[in-house]
Amino acid sequence: MSSITAKSSIRANRLEAVRPSMILELVQKARQLMADGHPIIDLGIGEPDFETPQHVKEAAIKAIANNETRYTVVPGTTTLRQAIVAKFERENRLNYRQDEISVSGGAKQVIYNAMTATLSPGDEVIIPAPFWSSYPDIVAIAEGRPVVVDCPQGQRFLISPEQLNAAITPRTKWLILNSPSNPTGGVYGPGHLEALADVLHRYPHVHILSDDIYEHLMFDGRRFTSILNVAPDLQDRTLIVNGVSKAFAMTGWRIGYGAGSKDIIAAMNVVQGQSCTHACSISQAAAFAALTGPTDFFAKRAAAFEKRRDVVVAALNTIDGVDCLTPEGAFYVYPDCSGLIGRKTPAGRVLTSDIDICSWLLDEHHVSAVPGAAFGLSPHLRISTAAATDDLENACGRIAAACALLERVQ
Ligand SMILES: Cc1ncc(COP(=O)(O)O)c(C=O)c1O
Repeated sequence: MSSITAKSSIRANRLEAVRPSMILELVQKARQLMADGHPIIDLGIGEPDFETPQHVKEAAIKAIANNETRYTVVPGTTTLRQAIVAKFERENRLNYRQDEISVSGGAKQVIYNAMTATLSPGDEVIIPAPFWSSYPDIVAIAEGRPVVVDCPQGQRFLISPEQLNAAITPRTKWLILNSPSNPTGGVYGPGHLEALADVLHRYPHVHILSDDIYEHLMFDGRRFTSILNVAPDLQDRTLIVNGVSKAFAMTGWRIGYGAGSKDIIAAMNVVQGQSCTHACSISQAAAFAALTGPTDFFAKRAAAFEKRRDVVVAALNTIDGVDCLTPEGAFYVYPDCSGLIGRKTPAGRVLTSDIDICSWLLDEHHVSAVPGAAFGLSPHLRISTAAATDDLENACGRIAAACALLERVQ
């Protein structure tokens, strides 16, 4: 056997730039500790703690009984795409045709299809940091180049028009915007979006991926605004990404959808047609029921998340070394923990990074959070507020008690 065969890796070169998911690793570790009997409070996971609505579950059961169990067309059933078109008209004042919609196995797959379908090696994608951790990795799998722009707490974690202008090159293919944001809960208001659109008007080669998955989780009376509401002329080069995972507590059903120009959508359908063919037919029927059924619970859920946000932000801001901005949407807080770096635990461990802080909190205080390193901006912690208020209070109490025991090292 030749030594080349013996040494060669099964992994494709394109996987070299892809990091294993730090979030999934942490979630697995927390679950293992729970299974071993430790009283873990898990604030690492990013999914609503509400149930999928009953009428949605029933629609799925009916779809099975009705034998809606065969292949559908690649972009999703006509009825579901029609419901999505109607949703955009009703909720976002945006007009699409059915051939401008593609349904996939979650918003993540919509983004994956879009990047795979449009990026050639070396094409650049501007990603404001902190970012949802999958963006750069999906870009890397598609052999694109993530161009990460740091947007620290002082600018509310939002990319400024000046930063956007400076990051654009002739190779820029996409700008990714996510509002409300995972992991920060940051929201782009209409004025900010107009300023970004002014820059984008100068660069017609740049496309915009607007990830609106948290649109229904807006706080303090704010209303969601899409970049297309302030700059409708960008519609041809914008892909809106959305889905039922967060709004309808349907993460496991795996339904997301994209809305964009016929060209972008057709290209995405090529990728989908040669990978999974289409999203699960039963889940498509469930998503149809979700998008055409009652949505009065959106406001109630947003109010519940707003209350939890208030509890967590107030509790974290009492801790010496932690500084937490008040998020304007979504179900995460993203406190700055730079004041804890360099401090020593009672066991003599010096905390040197947010990764260190998270593993100390998990191992010794049984609270699971995700380090900012997973989202491209450190030192921060991402704490999910998708948990019972009691759990949130207890977790913040544990973090406060743990931090109070830290010793400053000169
Ligand atoms: C910003 C953002 N976009 C997309 C997704 C993926 O959603 P889905 O579960 O529909 O794939 C997530 C999930 O956490 C997210 O936070």
